[in-house]
Amino acid sequence: AIDIAKLRDLTGYVTYDPGYKNTGATKSAITFLDGEEGILRHCGYSIEELADQASFLEVAYLLLHGELPTKAQLDAFEESIKKYSVANAALLKIAEAIPSSTHPMSELSALVGLMEGQYASNEPAENILRLLAALPIFAAWNYKKSIGEPIVAPDQSLDYCSNFLKMMFAKPGEAYQVDPIVSKALNKLLILHADHEQNCSTSTVRLIGSSHASIFSSISGGIQALFGPLHGGANQAVIEMLEEIKQAGGDTQKFVEMAKDKNSGFRLMGFGHRVYKNFDPRARIIKVAADDVLTALGVKDPVLTIAQELEAAALSDDYFVARKLYPNVDFYSGIIYRALHIPTNMFTILFAIGRLPGWIAQHKEMMTNKEPIGRPRQIYVGATPRAFVPMSQR
Ligand code: ACO
Repeated sequence: AIDIAKLRDLTGYVTYDPGYKNTGATKSAITFLDGEEGILRHCGYSIEELADQASFLEVAYLLLHGELPTKAQLDAFEESIKKYSVANAALLKIAEAIPSSTHPMSELSALVGLMEGQYASNEPAENILRLLAALPIFAAWNYKKSIGEPIVAPDQSLDYCSNFLKMMFAKPGEAYQVDPIVSKALNKLLILHADHEQNCSTSTVRLIGSSHASIFSSISGGIQALFGPLHGGANQAVIEMLEEIKQAGGDTQKFVEMAKDKNSGFRLMGFGHRVYKNFDPRARIIKVAADDVLTALGVKDPVLTIAQELEAAALSDDYFVARKLYPNVDFYSGIIYRALHIPTNMFTILFAIGRLPGWIAQHKEMMTNKEPIGRPRQIYVGATPRAFVPMSQR
């Protein structure tokens, strides 16, 4: 009889799919994505309607519970997050000791990982709220440290976005009024990042969680995956690229040509997507929002014009058209973050705050469905069996 297990090991009887381009690793009821049609829906609701009409915590509730909250449910959800919006003295001490040369994403991942020691034994539902409360606090600590100002305590009277803005930008001894235009823009950006099915960081969260490591370890790992320039780190890389184009005289065509040259090692950051092969619906919303927010705030950013020119140059080029490379969510988001005075090295932090409900919802789904430990196979291409060579004969 044929030993199938042995045959599988010997012949590489596994699916070979580098980068998991065609591998469905799970069944999920959270996010629907049609890359050909440019459709994104959360629990059936279109991203266009959610970004236009919902609050970020409303979307977070939707992702976590599968249904939009009633007014009473949303109020209770918001209140319970506020309950956990307090500075943890031990973690603050650690944050203060982390050198300010450390990238904010490394610091965020470390602090979230360290929450494990403090809270892992608590109820999962409580830890979800704790995480949602903690990320804006950790982010604001990092920013205040970088500019040498004391931290600002969370303000329980404010909504999620306004509280974050106050912790970031209130100055010691000065009254701080949250600009509703800024708060609204931030709300929209966070919603647009809230979930995106099995992307690199979400898959990381699910993979780590599948070993039954704590949710803090899982989210900490997700933050590290998001950090990479091919994923969430692209929003920082886009602004740096646009600045470079500006400083080089604004010749967008030159950079398009460079991106086409495989030997250049340069890609147009903020272009292309693993799944969207038509357009990224989030990018469309953000492009309009960038224009609106800059106009409303009276900000004239020459980099916006360069971004628009670069998009036009790329989309009329055969290379980009043939490969279906369109601007993604990261292309215009940095321009809005800049107008909101978010420092460039914190752009990916904003992405992480936005993606957090998605990571948590996907983790929760995986645990509820009792999914097995994630463990991809490989095709072995190394040496065939050979005898050990003693050191004296090498
Ligand atoms: N600039 C120039 N060429 C590109 C770009 C780009 N931004 N993106 C893809 N290509 C080319 C590749 O060289 C490849 O060309 P080939 O077929 O001649 O070999 C082809 O398009 C397909 O690209 P892949 O890398 O195979 O596509 P993949 O799905 O693996 O990668 C990714 C998707 C990582 C997003 C890629 O498009 C990229 O590196 N983009 C720039 C970084 C970026 O913006 N990342 C953010 C993604 S969105 C997000 O994470 C929120």
